[in-house]
Amino acid sequence: MTKNKLRKILKYKRDAISENLRKIYSDLIYKNFLYFIKKFHKNPKNILIYNSFNSEVDTKKIINFFFKKNFKVYLPAIINNNVYPIRFKAKDKLIKGRYGIFEPAKKIKIKNINLLDMIIAPGIGFDKNGNRIGFGKGYFDKFLSKLNKKIIKVGLAFTKQITKKIPAKKHDVKMDFLITEKEIINCQNNK
Ligand SMILES: Nc1ncnc2c1ncn2[C@@H]1O[C@H](COP(=O)(O)OP(=O)(O)OP(=O)(O)O)[C@@H](O)[C@H]1O
Ligand SMILES: [Mg+2]
Repeated sequence: MTKNKLRKILKYKRDAISENLRKIYSDLIYKNFLYFIKKFHKNPKNILIYNSFNSEVDTKKIINFFFKKNFKVYLPAIINNNVYPIRFKAKDKLIKGRYGIFEPAKKIKIKNINLLDMIIAPGIGFDKNGNRIGFGKGYFDKFLSKLNKKIIKVGLAFTKQITKKIPAKKHDVKMDFLITEKEIINCQNNK
């Protein structure tokens, strides 16, 4: 199956999850994420996390957890077709960016992208090897390909978004871990 066809099917599946279930699953993903942080990655200091919109896994609770812990939070913003991590503090104003996704109004870019130690990426679909299908613009791939390989990449997904095999290309950057409402998948084990 082509990537575009798969993208459509997986998007449809994600959109079809009711609001109520999405909330329940997002809460479970939040709980699994807390366990993941404790077990695998005790102290991320600088984290890029997507600000959820539409039918994506909700990231609000995770972002608030980072604030509580005083971790530095960055949200992705698209500037001239490139993704930039923009520092986001609890009281910062957000404005609608490209595609209606909220991003910080004041765009203070990170000094060095390799200061990040964790990336929490959105996706339309994933497979257990860590392959990811995104929005279809390659924005995230382009950004991820610039990062030091050591930076841990985590995909959040509902189980319905996990498919058997994503026809990944060379430019597609893999996730190291996937967290769903049911499990934590270490994609490094599946290589
Ligand atoms: N590192 C890169 N440099 C240049 N072009 C890229 C890069 N990564 C992806 N692209 C281009 O972007 C287009 C879309 O890529 P792809 O289908 O993988 O998107 P996606 O993974 O769904 O999107 P996204 O990464 O924004 O979530 C492709 O045509 C690809 O050639
Ligand atoms: Mg891709």
